[in-house]
Amino acid sequence: MSEILRYIDQNSSRFRAEMYDFLRIPSVSAKSEHDSDTRGAAEWLAQRLRDAGLEAELRETPGHPVVLGHWRGAGPDSPTVLIYGHYDVQPPEPLEEWTSPPFEPTERDGRVYARGSADDKGQLYMHVKALEAHLATQGSLPVNVIVLAEGEEEVGSANLVPFVEQNAAELACDAVVISDSNMYAPGMPSVLFSLRGLAYFEIHVRGPRSDLHSGQFGGPVVNPGNALAKIVASLHDADGRVAIEGFYDDVLEWDEETRDQIRSLPFDDTAYKADLKVAALGGEKGWSTLEKLWIRPTCDVNGMLCGYTGEGAKTVLPGKAMAKVSFRLVPSQTPERVKKLLEAHLARVSPPGVTVELVELHGGRPWKAKVEGKLVEAASEALEQAFGTRAVLQGEGGSIPIVVDFEEKLKASALLVGFALPGCNLHAPNEWFPLDAFHKGIGALAILYGKLG
Ligand code: BES
Ligand code: MN
Ligand code: MN
Repeated sequence: MSEILRYIDQNSSRFRAEMYDFLRIPSVSAKSEHDSDTRGAAEWLAQRLRDAGLEAELRETPGHPVVLGHWRGAGPDSPTVLIYGHYDVQPPEPLEEWTSPPFEPTERDGRVYARGSADDKGQLYMHVKALEAHLATQGSLPVNVIVLAEGEEEVGSANLVPFVEQNAAELACDAVVISDSNMYAPGMPSVLFSLRGLAYFEIHVRGPRSDLHSGQFGGPVVNPGNALAKIVASLHDADGRVAIEGFYDDVLEWDEETRDQIRSLPFDDTAYKADLKVAALGGEKGWSTLEKLWIRPTCDVNGMLCGYTGEGAKTVLPGKAMAKVSFRLVPSQTPERVKKLLEAHLARVSPPGVTVELVELHGGRPWKAKVEGKLVEAASEALEQAFGTRAVLQGEGGSIPIVVDFEEKLKASALLVGFALPGCNLHAPNEWFPLDAFHKGIGALAILYGKLG
């Protein structure tokens, strides 16, 4: 292993430079104007996999292509590891809030700033370099490897689910390894025990035939803006719980061991508030901040559209209003059930005089890891060797919907080891990735493959 780690040390500046090339490609999956860039990122990645010594190709889907690489030289008696990541990124807007341009990777204070540096191109590329380190020094890998990188994670992975179903035989594996999440804190590597799921909706409220003069019509005419505000307010009770009947029926009561594990992690609400520049925290009464983030479900407004929002005053009674509302789910909630419950709730609270329509955007099931077993053990040891500190178990509030599909369709356990940090500004301006974690993490992954083999 020391030869492999030495190779990683000796090539670290080239690894970084290559990652920056990857980050320069604006693979924004949500925007069709970037379709050729997104494909370009896929082609770039496939070529880097070939350079590392794998076979790789683009596999077409109705949307952005899947990059599929593999190396089967370990033979049928050795385990097969599927490495998953995504080469698409979130739109970079608002551009004026970036200190350096989003697609010009820039180093400052031991970090690289660029869209996709943490989510997920930087982390995905670490796996490519860990594979290269084995192949370049040993001429082989300790396990058979499949690399599956998609270009639609940030837009809901709609085409990946059928892809996995249709290619289940080709994707057959013993474990799925994913680096698309965070370490607990700087110098504190972690393995995930959970991801939350997601159920995302639009609530459309329609009132009179058009916008109206709010003096001439205000009063008798039910205002869609007022109605939407009432609907949104009805989603929580005074204790911060989601006030939809039946919403908590499927919520798992986590075992005391996991809750103890959460309590054992250092966490300071005061520092958390100071960092976010807020005076107080909210959410469900009776749970700690980490519990609220990892093991409790939520309901959040993501956007609202209604009436006049331009400069100055306009006395108008809006004809319609819309809110984007999403729920983060925990085991064993499902997007389907939450949709049914929300429909029933809307039917109950919507005032007469407006119509209310619920539109589902996308969803994903929550994931709970099997934390006892060889996979997590191997990862913890590899992280400890590379970072010099024990890895902790942590939950995660974000979602990677495909994880549950992998486990179900490929009948393999997933292992989530991420190297970003909670402050890395994912999806936000000034996204960054810690360069020391990039370097040490490549070593950790190389050690991990060794242990799995
Ligand atoms: N990598 C993130 C999920 C994530 C964020 C994991 C933070 C761990 C820490 C992923 O790319 C993502 O953004 N997922 C979306 C869901 C998707 C359906 C758009 C999310 O969580 O909002
Ligand atoms: Mn991601
Ligand atoms: Mn993301």
